[in-house]
Amino acid sequence: MIRHIVITWNFTVIIEGWFWHVTDFHWDTTYNSTGLSCNRQTNRGEYGDPLCDSPWILIQSTSIYYFRDSVAHIKNNETSLEKNDFILGNITELLNSSFPSSPLYATYGNHDYYPSNMYPPYGNELYNKTFEQWRHWIVGAEQEKTFRRGAYYTLKTAHGIRIVALNTNLYYKSDKVTEGLTDPAHQFSWLEGVLSSSRKLQEKVIITGHVPPAIAEEGGQPWMHMNFHNELNNIILNFSDVIVGMHFGHQHIDDLKVYYKQDVPVAALFSAPSVTPWRYITSTYDGPARNPGIRLVKYDRQTGKHLDIIQYYLDLQSSNANNKTIWQKLYQMTSDYHLADVTPSSIHALVQRLKNAGSNEFRSFNKWRFVNIDRQCNSDCHTRVWCSLIHYQQNEFEKCMKPSHGPSAVG
Ligand SMILES: *[C@@H]1O[C@H](CO)[C@@H](O)[C@H](O)[C@H]1NC(C)=O
Ligand SMILES: *[C@@H]1O[C@H](CO)[C@@H](O)[C@H](O)[C@H]1NC(C)=O
Ligand SMILES: *[C@@H]1O[C@H](CO)[C@@H](O)[C@H](O)[C@H]1NC(C)=O
Ligand SMILES: *[C@@H]1O[C@H](CO)[C@@H](O)[C@H](O)[C@H]1NC(C)=O
Ligand SMILES: *[C@@H]1O[C@H](CO)[C@@H](O)[C@H](O)[C@H]1NC(C)=O
Ligand SMILES: *[C@@H]1O[C@H](CO)[C@@H](O)[C@H](O)[C@H]1NC(C)=O
Ligand SMILES: *[C@@H]1O[C@H](CO)[C@@H](O)[C@H](O)[C@H]1NC(C)=O
Ligand SMILES: [Zn+2]
Ligand SMILES: [Zn+2]
Repeated sequence: MIRHIVITWNFTVIIEGWFWHVTDFHWDTTYNSTGLSCNRQTNRGEYGDPLCDSPWILIQSTSIYYFRDSVAHIKNNETSLEKNDFILGNITELLNSSFPSSPLYATYGNHDYYPSNMYPPYGNELYNKTFEQWRHWIVGAEQEKTFRRGAYYTLKTAHGIRIVALNTNLYYKSDKVTEGLTDPAHQFSWLEGVLSSSRKLQEKVIITGHVPPAIAEEGGQPWMHMNFHNELNNIILNFSDVIVGMHFGHQHIDDLKVYYKQDVPVAALFSAPSVTPWRYITSTYDGPARNPGIRLVKYDRQTGKHLDIIQYYLDLQSSNANNKTIWQKLYQMTSDYHLADVTPSSIHALVQRLKNAGSNEFRSFNKWRFVNIDRQCNSDCHTRVWCSLIHYQQNEFEKCMKPSHGPSAVG
């Protein structure tokens, strides 16, 4: 499911910087006709439908962006590498023309490869084609080399913050091509090299990628193959003094994670909700509905310190009812959660309050998780959600879930 584009906006304010994080477009090019992504056939809303991936009009209305998972949830036999390249091309063009002078940091989502998920651990035709589309944004010979090799790269912002754009689709459990390898596309060794160098040079790093190195709350297991999951998390913990923020997608919900070292919060990971409202449905399971979302991240552009997150959403029902795109502010982390900023220690303080299922904070969090859609969350649900915020190790997550323990606090 996705990809990101982090856009870095530089307003005239001296210290503050902003970037948009937009992810999981999942454009269904057949939305107006067969609607191949739709779980069931119904009268589809003009601006989108909870049973389907995004129509072009919804994608266009975001016109800010990020790229991950541009391609829809469509069976492999109905898509192809050429079609995926075409979709990336349309979205690239939209972003490029909407943000002609903003740096844009784009990464792939797992659906952008063909066949879906099966990223190989070496360069291939899609990386080369995409590089031609993104070369305007991914500038430099070294960047070109790593992108062609594994679709990852690093660039610095105008104020010296290092952006590290990872291709974590290589680690995704559904990728059967990289399973059993130790370092697909040499991305881990490259990442350690970049972070070590940043530490020496006293640079601060923002990491962005698609699939997060986290426990998928619903299945109770990591999204990644276990060895990759552990390796990436070891690196994150090892270099938490260098990393000032992490932004991922793929989960299609609004989520966050805190990392601890001896009970001290040292890093925070943010997972942005998707543009697509598509919900997962099988014969036995109806996933929750959600609205399209995009977010603005505010950070200190000299130090990278994360100051705030403002989440916007499109009210799908009223947009369809009123025949226009209605984007609105949903919440602002600092004011709505009463936080000074969104650094690891502030997020830790929030997580402590979320431990109480009856708290206003948890009620808001639960509703905002699905981008302003209230859903039932009983005590088992609350425990599962809460434990997934603070544990990336499966055994600790499971211990936290045991009813006899209740949600166990860290710190
Ligand atoms: C889909 O149909 C809507 C009107 O229902 C139209 O506005 C839009 O341009 C069409 N999109 C495409 C890609 O054909
Ligand atoms: C793809 O497979 C589905 C069944 O899984 C079938 O209904 C559909 O016709 C196939 N499409 C093409 C283009 O072969
Ligand atoms: C996508 O790109 C193609 C080729 O550039 C263009 O013909 C088409 O109109 C674009 N589609 C949309 C919805 O912008
Ligand atoms: C991708 O591009 C590189 C550099 O231009 C080239 O050496 C390589 O053969 C290409 N790979 C494929 C699969 O086309
Ligand atoms: C993006 O826009 C620039 C001009 O602002 C242009 O030179 C470049 O070719 C465009 N790239 C794409 C992929 O449209
Ligand atoms: C942690 O960082 C140190 C110093 O850069 C390095 O020697 C060590 O191998 C790293 N360990 C892991 C697990 O990344
Ligand atoms: C929706 O609005 C467009 C113009 O923005 C108009 O062309 C179209 O007819 C309207 N559709 C309906 C169902 O009212
Ligand atoms: Zn994804
Ligand atoms: Zn997705």
